Amino acid sequence: MNSGEGRRLPTEDESWWPNDLVAVGETRTRFQLNHRLTTGAGNPDSRRGTSLAGRSGAAAILPSMFTHTIIEPFRIRTVEPIVTRRREERSLALHTSHFNVFALRAGDVLIDLLTDSGTGAMSANQWSAMMRSDESYAGARSFFTFEETVRDITGLTHVLPTHQGRAAERILFTTLLKPSDIVPNNTHFDTTRANIEARGAEAVDIPIAEARAPGTLHPFKGNIDLVALEQLLREKPGRVPLVLITVTNNSGGGQPVSLANLRGARAICDRYGVPLFLDACRFAENAWFIRLREPGPEQRTPTAIARDMFACVVGCTMSAKKDGMANIGGFLALNDDSLAERCRNNLILTEGFVTYGGLAGYDLEAIAVGLREALQEDYLHYRIRSIEYLAEKLMAGGVPLVQPPGGHALYIDARSMLPHIPPSEYPAWTLSCALYLEAGVRAAEIGSVMFGQQPEGSERPAAMELLRLAFPRRVYTQSHVDYIAEAVLYLHARRGQLRGMRITDQPATLRHFSVKMAPLDPAGW
Ligand SMILES: Cc1ncc(COP(=O)(O)O)c(C=O)c1O
Repeated sequence: MNSGEGRRLPTEDESWWPNDLVAVGETRTRFQLNHRLTTGAGNPDSRRGTSLAGRSGAAAILPSMFTHTIIEPFRIRTVEPIVTRRREERSLALHTSHFNVFALRAGDVLIDLLTDSGTGAMSANQWSAMMRSDESYAGARSFFTFEETVRDITGLTHVLPTHQGRAAERILFTTLLKPSDIVPNNTHFDTTRANIEARGAEAVDIPIAEARAPGTLHPFKGNIDLVALEQLLREKPGRVPLVLITVTNNSGGGQPVSLANLRGARAICDRYGVPLFLDACRFAENAWFIRLREPGPEQRTPTAIARDMFACVVGCTMSAKKDGMANIGGFLALNDDSLAERCRNNLILTEGFVTYGGLAGYDLEAIAVGLREALQEDYLHYRIRSIEYLAEKLMAGGVPLVQPPGGHALYIDARSMLPHIPPSEYPAWTLSCALYLEAGVRAAEIGSVMFGQQPEGSERPAAMELLRLAFPRRVYTQSHVDYIAEAVLYLHARRGQLRGMRITDQPATLRHFSVKMAPLDPAGW
């Protein structure tokens, strides 16, 4: 009996594949199955070499019961040409840029995986919301739409818009931190660390041990080490004004944090009277990983899981350039009335009035729509699967990766791939230049160039030497991913020929953005 009574198709604003269309005979994937699919073992799809394929992620969201291909859940109506340069032209561009891919002109890049930050494609809904924006200086309708959305998803009371994530960090840290304070985190992102250090405070990374072993599998490698956290709070009373947890852990491989870990951290913070904040840039991707991998109620929506995550904290910083699906924007959200008041004064000083915070009304509208779109199941399914699909291809060719693949990016373990290049000769940086030279693909080093420079000027090797291939949201298709795989496999086959790099000029902080480098052996470049 199926009269259809009481049933309806989802609207275009809702997740397209409702839970009652779960494919018959499939169970929602848990980490173990996910891992098997990832490594290819026992995965019929990987043997057939299909597609953005496989059933990893929820088996639930396939458009039919007879296909395995996870399609991009959108169609393309506006296109942007990309230009292919010849190898000699790329070589010239690399020399002109002093072997720093940040200094390249984007027009000389074929596929740009430098970052997933602000580089995504916006939806028709976002563009139309932007057209309806209110650009009033104070009290604009667009602010209240934005505020209501952030409150609804995070449950946090005070919402301060900022022009991007690091502005939220700066406002929070300049308001809260004093010299010699300590801020623990699973792993600080570079701007977070720099903003803390700019206050004379210390940024301490305490991820779980598995996080530092690229090849080790763990479902929640982004977790903070709860024992280390408690020890720090016990041993340094009065010196930790807040604890941060970054979801997903970008600098640690895009790895997720479990709800259990967030709840554990909150319990510890409560015992010591220290506020817990999220660096929430990729909260939606983190929620999806929780749904796939953490035991608990099976049918929870990403939105419900995200609310559970935010219920563990009293505030967050957010770059809306990630899971806000916007090209610019961010916010600081928090519960503490008096801290919020002080942060608002700080916001007015440098960002703008409290109802726009350095953004246009149309940016606020784009973020309000984007935050909801980032939580749609079909989108998250396709998104996480895209990275996993590339990972399968690279692992089949023996390329060492951070395992399991992350949410927004794939991280090549350059230390393992290029063991003949020591950290002092920057293996991941070398790989970034080689990938651009050979294929026009731009990716970011997360290694000793980014993290090796110490505040007092000395040099220390980073914990890992990674090359991050970050995926802009809703931008590239499966054939782009296939091309990237071919490029990396080509380099991997010739890895023995690569020689390292040296620094010729550098700024005092955040050096990777503008450092000048030179190859130790100029032949071949
Ligand atoms: C984890 C994390 N925190 C903070 C930031 C800073 O955000 P924004 O680039 O918007 O300043 C980023 C940006 O990549 C990030 O990945």
